Amino acid sequence: MCGIIGFTGNIQAKNIIIDGLERLEYRGYDSAGLALLNNGRINVMKKTGKVADLRKLCENAELSGTCGIGHTRWATHGGVTDVNAHPHRCGQVVLIHNGIIENYKQIISEYGLADKLMSETDSEVVAALLDTLYDGDPIKAIKKTVNVLSGAFALCIMFQDIPGKIFSIRNVSPMVATSCEKGSIIASDLTALIEFSKDYFVVPEYHILTLSKEGIDIIDMKGNEVKPEILSVNWDIASAQKGGYPFFMLKEIYEQPDAIRNTVTPRVSQGLPDFTEDGIDDSIFTDCERICVVACGTAMHAGMVGKHLIESRLRVPVQVEIASEFRYKNPIMDSKTLTIVLSQSGETIDTLEALKLAKSMGSKVLSIVNVKGSTIARESDYVLYTHAGPEIAVASTKAYTVQIAAMYLIAARMGLVRKLIDEKSTKKFIINLINASNIIEETLKSANNIKRVANHIKLAPDAFYIGRGLDYTMSLEAALKLKEISYVHAEAYAAGELKHGTIALIAENVPVIAFATQEDVYGKVISNIREVKARGAYVVLVSMDEKVDDVAICDQHIRIPKLDSEFTTFATSVILQLIAYYTSEAKGLDVDKPRNLAKSVTVE
Ligand code: G6P
Repeated sequence: MCGIIGFTGNIQAKNIIIDGLERLEYRGYDSAGLALLNNGRINVMKKTGKVADLRKLCENAELSGTCGIGHTRWATHGGVTDVNAHPHRCGQVVLIHNGIIENYKQIISEYGLADKLMSETDSEVVAALLDTLYDGDPIKAIKKTVNVLSGAFALCIMFQDIPGKIFSIRNVSPMVATSCEKGSIIASDLTALIEFSKDYFVVPEYHILTLSKEGIDIIDMKGNEVKPEILSVNWDIASAQKGGYPFFMLKEIYEQPDAIRNTVTPRVSQGLPDFTEDGIDDSIFTDCERICVVACGTAMHAGMVGKHLIESRLRVPVQVEIASEFRYKNPIMDSKTLTIVLSQSGETIDTLEALKLAKSMGSKVLSIVNVKGSTIARESDYVLYTHAGPEIAVASTKAYTVQIAAMYLIAARMGLVRKLIDEKSTKKFIINLINASNIIEETLKSANNIKRVANHIKLAPDAFYIGRGLDYTMSLEAALKLKEISYVHAEAYAAGELKHGTIALIAENVPVIAFATQEDVYGKVISNIREVKARGAYVVLVSMDEKVDDVAICDQHIRIPKLDSEFTTFATSVILQLIAYYTSEAKGLDVDKPRNLAKSVTVE
């Protein structure tokens, strides 16, 4: 959460910083600000609202300088106000911060900083402490400061009396950096860097970076010079732009066929799943007795699809844990438990901490991660990278379907190496998985039909998603998606469970979206639909066939292609995403930046 950027080079920094902040905005959009260092003075501009508001504010201001820092905030400590916005200035120091300083109150009293503070933030305390400890030697002051801090932090710091330089240090909170002929740049993630260079490095924790127009120096806490490991990105700037779509979310929904192709095909060799290139040792699949899936939000829902698949196909027990709960429940883990961690960003703090806990209890960790070189990827024993490209919209779509595809690949490989499923059946399964891209393309053709459904839902205060088996797990994701971007209160229910309480909420015109794509329970779901229809619900049926009688009981029908029950998830994903998208759009909301949310949740 919070996006940070710093640039120092041969050209003016203002627009580089504002453009970069726009790309980082999905990390938080409560307020935005920048600071430019020029001729021994630092100008700070900051404001509540989006980066576009900051851009306006800066338009007419006299702001020059080739060295500057910028921040887009997701509020944690202190309300959404101009004074709480970053950068924070104290004496000679101006800084931006992403993370949480847990001991900020203690620091205020220990160092007598109260009089220096204007905001309610933990971040300003770091600026005040640095200013107190600064005697002209920035490295010494930074070292002393971080030795006092506890918590997560990514900091970019400028000193008024040090021209052209940005200092940076981090613990847990992510930062990547690069230098090119224009100068040196550092940011929370690659979307802000990609315009400058495809080569970058992940800023190592507890190392001090000095950025100047000539390049980036890195030293460890003992003062030893360190050379970073250079990585390179395999997507370009166009992937991080809207490309003619009104919102990133819609673009990302339409990118799913390619994202799945890119994720699945490199892992298929002679028709069979193959993780050789990923360096994943088959022993993790053969040696485990059970699997524990840990993740948050949409990624956790992808894990639930994996559970259903692995348990039903392989009879290997799988538990799915919400990462923030897992950490504090004294989980039962051992070396016979394979932990599968799912995370688009690879930075979600609860997921990361859950991973560390699982490892410390002897479990091997395989992570499914979209962002190369991210912390979760680096902490895992094995990584299966999804190749969705950058996902900018806060509501996850393509990252979800590729996570599902990755879980299918794992299920296939595990079935094969445990000799539970023969080669012929595995090949058939893989053909179906490769076909997921076509399924999505076909389902996207229902967009207009789905718009009609959204026009009804947009008027409703509440909506319900129901389904059984795999359709129930899809309902959970459907309800989350609708809530997060359209603010329609939505609940997911196992269709058979409705009558044990929730059906009391069904009244005239309440939308009930029923997923009935699972052959073995199709008839049962239809009975459940009749129960809600009899109570006045506005029913949207999502199913394969147009069985005339069944469709007749519904107000709307969305047809999906004819598929094996195990593979309907890809069609249902698109439908649930488009329902949420069009409902949000019809309500005139900012689809990509829903209120109160941030894409990458790096606070606990
Ligand atoms: C946030 C995002 C969700 C995402 C979740 C987990 O809540 O808004 O879309 O599913 O974090 O993120 P991760 O990066 O770990 O997949």
